[in-house]
Amino acid sequence: MGEKMNKILVLYATQSGNAFDAAERIGREAERRGCPYAVLSVDDYDPKSLGSEDIVIFVVSTTGQGDAPDSLKSFWRFLLQSSLRNDWLKGVNYAVFGLGDSGYQKYNFVAKKLDNRLSKLGAKAIIERGLGDDQHPSGYEGALDPWLSALWNVVYELSPSLFPNGLKLDYNDISFIDQPKVEVVYHDVVEESYSTTKTLEMQIEWTRTMSPGKFSAKTKPECFLKMKKNSPLSRPGSGKDVCHLEFEAVSSSIEYEVGDVIEVLPSQDPAAVDAFIKCCELDPEAYITVLPRQKDHYFNGQSRSAYKIPVKLKTFVALAMDVASASPRRYFFEVMSYFASAEHEKERLRDFVSPEGRDDLYQYNQKEGRTVLEVLEDFPSVRMPFEWLVQLVPPLKTRAFSIASSNSAHPNEVHLTVSVVSWMTPYKRKRFGLCSTWLANLDPQHDTLIPAWFRKGLLPPPPPSLPLILIGPGTGCAPFRGFVEERALQGKSGLIAPILFFFGCRNEADDFLYRDFWYSHSQTGGVLSEEKGGGFYVAFSRDQPQKVYVQHKIREQGAKVWSLLAQGASIYVAGSAEKMPADVLQAFEEIISKESGFPREEAGRWLRAFERAGRYHVEAWS
Ligand code: 2AM
Repeated sequence: MGEKMNKILVLYATQSGNAFDAAERIGREAERRGCPYAVLSVDDYDPKSLGSEDIVIFVVSTTGQGDAPDSLKSFWRFLLQSSLRNDWLKGVNYAVFGLGDSGYQKYNFVAKKLDNRLSKLGAKAIIERGLGDDQHPSGYEGALDPWLSALWNVVYELSPSLFPNGLKLDYNDISFIDQPKVEVVYHDVVEESYSTTKTLEMQIEWTRTMSPGKFSAKTKPECFLKMKKNSPLSRPGSGKDVCHLEFEAVSSSIEYEVGDVIEVLPSQDPAAVDAFIKCCELDPEAYITVLPRQKDHYFNGQSRSAYKIPVKLKTFVALAMDVASASPRRYFFEVMSYFASAEHEKERLRDFVSPEGRDDLYQYNQKEGRTVLEVLEDFPSVRMPFEWLVQLVPPLKTRAFSIASSNSAHPNEVHLTVSVVSWMTPYKRKRFGLCSTWLANLDPQHDTLIPAWFRKGLLPPPPPSLPLILIGPGTGCAPFRGFVEERALQGKSGLIAPILFFFGCRNEADDFLYRDFWYSHSQTGGVLSEEKGGGFYVAFSRDQPQKVYVQHKIREQGAKVWSLLAQGASIYVAGSAEKMPADVLQAFEEIISKESGFPREEAGRWLRAFERAGRYHVEAWS
């Protein structure tokens, strides 16, 4: 029984690094079972060879509005060629695991499309596609775990000869422990110039260049910001903590468009960094460089010989290792188990990583959102070598914010609307989001430097002549503050099209963000004024017994919305990813059907064409 197969191929397309993590895990599990395998980013693979593969596992993420990661684009174009026959992939076995977010309309769209196309080309799905969901409390791993164990069983049945060691993982096999992906070199003598010339910019660039983490922004900060103003937007004690922050660029001039996004590198709590160093018995003052052990994808293709400059270990930890990040991967616990010297700790860690211990680990780790530091402190006998820590502690990531200002209205400044994130864990520990808490607690009197990068978001800047329908409840109003500022400025020197803006918050008295700003632009002559064809509508969800949301206000203004759409308006939606974007879309579908007299399905088709034409934009976050 079974066929003779040579290897399994894992192809991944990642945007934030999660699909890469998942692909690596599949590779690791194959390796530990003695199964020949290769893990490749899909853009490093020649799609023409696909027809000659035995088993291909695809791990692909879907971003934003159903978009594929950049690395998948040329592979996908190749697969779509009409010259490919529908039996081209006959004999190829495949499986697809998608990573997505069910808060978005096109949940795991890329995985679904890929699955359908592969099967149309004659490949055989050996297992139903798996769909990882960011909204799941344990993230995509919630779906990956059961999917993977089912996958191994199926692959084993297909070709038992791929598994000389059988299917069972041998948790006593420690050979991989000798092979972390990184090597840390300690430098005894470091030239004095290193310590005296190390500005923050250089330190960030050097540490991020050496770190094995994947970053969404480049290593070197584009600019440094200094806070100018920090004022509350919500009523203190109201249960909402939102603030308006203004920054100016210090080192270089900045340029951005409305709708752009800024990425900020937060500072970690120095006490947490010190505690981590102490708990791991590291020498904070040691000068180190970090190298890839082999030239591999961990370092974004960088070679060992790339120029590396020593930095202090504590600087490396502070700038590149997120010691307070929540819920380390299961692999972290596995590696810990090998370095635990106390038997009871070793046993507990072993149990965590065994299939039977999955729920215990989930309760301990994911559910409680245990931080890396807390986990290490809970297992004091573990002495993980620094190499392993560098490899496994998540990199300190930048956090993205929609820019809330117009650059033309505020040259060299950038404004943000920041909601301070906090929550209670099941064991009643209060947690705070690293970046929002850090920013909100910064004092404009102090000269703290904030490393930042600018990038395009999903909201393209509208030309002044484009009528706009904007929907931004909560902090979703941030980008639209920029839109309104920009258009008010444009109105001073030329003709501008009207804006309808729908805002939503809990209570008029508590979290009506930028209330005076919206009202002032709604007055005679303002860009949101009725007399100019615009409008400002606000939904207070909790000021009456029944919920009132932005979509209710949109429905109330159906005729106006329809008339603006007839004038060529574009729709922009921003805000929390939960159900809001889907509910808003539905409201539009209803209005269009009602106002046009066409059935709902027709209105739905019309909206999808409207979206394809680039007139419906959504930037959602959770
Ligand atoms: P709620 O918290 O009272 O449910 C900003 O967060 C505003 O968006 C709040 O008033 C919030 O209301 C509201 N909101 C929550 N879910 C929503 C949804 N599905 N559609 C529109 N608004 C929503």
